[in-house]
Amino acid sequence: KQKKIGIIGMGVMGRNLALNIESKGYCVTIYNRSKDKTDAVVTNNPKKNIIPCYSIEEFALSLNKPRFIFLMITSGTHIDNVIKILSPYMNPGDILIDGGNSFYKDTMRRNLELSKKGINFIGTGISGGEEGALKGPSIMPGGNIDAYKMVESVFKKIAARVNDETCVAYIGPNGSGHYVKMIHNGIEYGDMQIIAEIYFFIKNIFHLTHEALGEIFDKWNQGELNSYLIEITSRIFVRKDAKHGYILDSILDVARNKGTGAWASQDAIDLGIPLSMITESVFARYMSVLKQQRLKASKILLGPNRENCFESKCLYVEKARKALYLSKIILYAQGFYQLKIASDKYHWDLNYKQIAQIFRAGCIIRSKFLQKIIDIYSQTPDITNLLLSPYCVNIANDYQQMLREVVVCGIKYGIPMPTLSAAISYYDSYRSNVLPANLIQAQRDCFGAHTYTCFDKKGTFHTDWLK
Ligand code: 6PG
Repeated sequence: KQKKIGIIGMGVMGRNLALNIESKGYCVTIYNRSKDKTDAVVTNNPKKNIIPCYSIEEFALSLNKPRFIFLMITSGTHIDNVIKILSPYMNPGDILIDGGNSFYKDTMRRNLELSKKGINFIGTGISGGEEGALKGPSIMPGGNIDAYKMVESVFKKIAARVNDETCVAYIGPNGSGHYVKMIHNGIEYGDMQIIAEIYFFIKNIFHLTHEALGEIFDKWNQGELNSYLIEITSRIFVRKDAKHGYILDSILDVARNKGTGAWASQDAIDLGIPLSMITESVFARYMSVLKQQRLKASKILLGPNRENCFESKCLYVEKARKALYLSKIILYAQGFYQLKIASDKYHWDLNYKQIAQIFRAGCIIRSKFLQKIIDIYSQTPDITNLLLSPYCVNIANDYQQMLREVVVCGIKYGIPMPTLSAAISYYDSYRSNVLPANLIQAQRDCFGAHTYTCFDKKGTFHTDWLK
């Protein structure tokens, strides 16, 4: 009997995932809260093996056991509401897969609740947007391994591919799949922001046209910066609308978000580790939202004079390329370090090499650099921080001066560079054998008797500083 797979939620991702799964030889049963979307999928895809259902009960009864059900709905309370309505129709052994951007702690909680009923819950990151869902996303499933094994063949068939390898791998128990997706999204925010800062820098310093920007990014895309985000950016620059010219020029400079980047930052705070670049990229979006205040401030707060800028364009465009690549390395170093600390905390035993492998195709952060990360973890699986690998050390030693000069130049001419500045600051802090934290300790001890430890003697000490 043909295996039926259920999908709840016919938004763009749910619909495209349904079509992807159907194209791999399964019968797909679909349900959406509003009937119209369900009907539209069936009407627009008349010859497909897709069965519409109009109630949760009908949906659950249509599936053969054990049921494989994907939830492709907005994260948050919607998921809990659907689980509440759906779970009475589910049997022990059935598998419920949350393919949205859920918060990993919610996934842990749902996992626990459903396991009490014998229902297997798989929280999976699915990356790649609309096109990825349809043609092959990058998939990051977390949950019970035996349950995963049962659905693995479906995942493997629908995932993106790099040659013979599929961009899906079991990540680990309970919330780990959604955790990895959260870090993926944080890196996505960071990568987008450093690209945006570099674009703004070269555009404003050298008064570059859209065509010139498109050419520069297109060229960069052929080298070590090669990535999906650089590629789409080069195309965005030159995209025109028949009436109004370059579309980019007409887009309001207010960046929205759905919260996953902020979760990554909040979690870094909870873990007590530095995640400055992702955090700055979240803040950069928040700053962009203050459009009215910025308009007001731009009229009264002074900056430097940009008119007398005599920097060499050719030199700086190449410096910008190197600055972008090194800051991207630092971004990944921070993100993967967070994965390591979370993996230790939750005993997930994450496989970083495998994670980099599944990011290579399908997802938004796919790039040539991921192959370097794979090589690093192949050679040194236990490396603490990617920046300590010979490959990154070489690039850093070669490019750090350029990242520094680009940030200095940006500051000199008043171009905001929150995330690139965070990159060079992290770099300089990380390579400092001594930091001014001794003074912080002394201050804490001075005003609060918090005590301090010393280089040269054991124990904790307190000084009556103001005596
Ligand atoms: C992906 C993306 C996706 C995310 C969007 C929007 O991997 O396909 O990460 O899951 O929802 O990129 O995110 P923001 O609205 O927060 O920018």
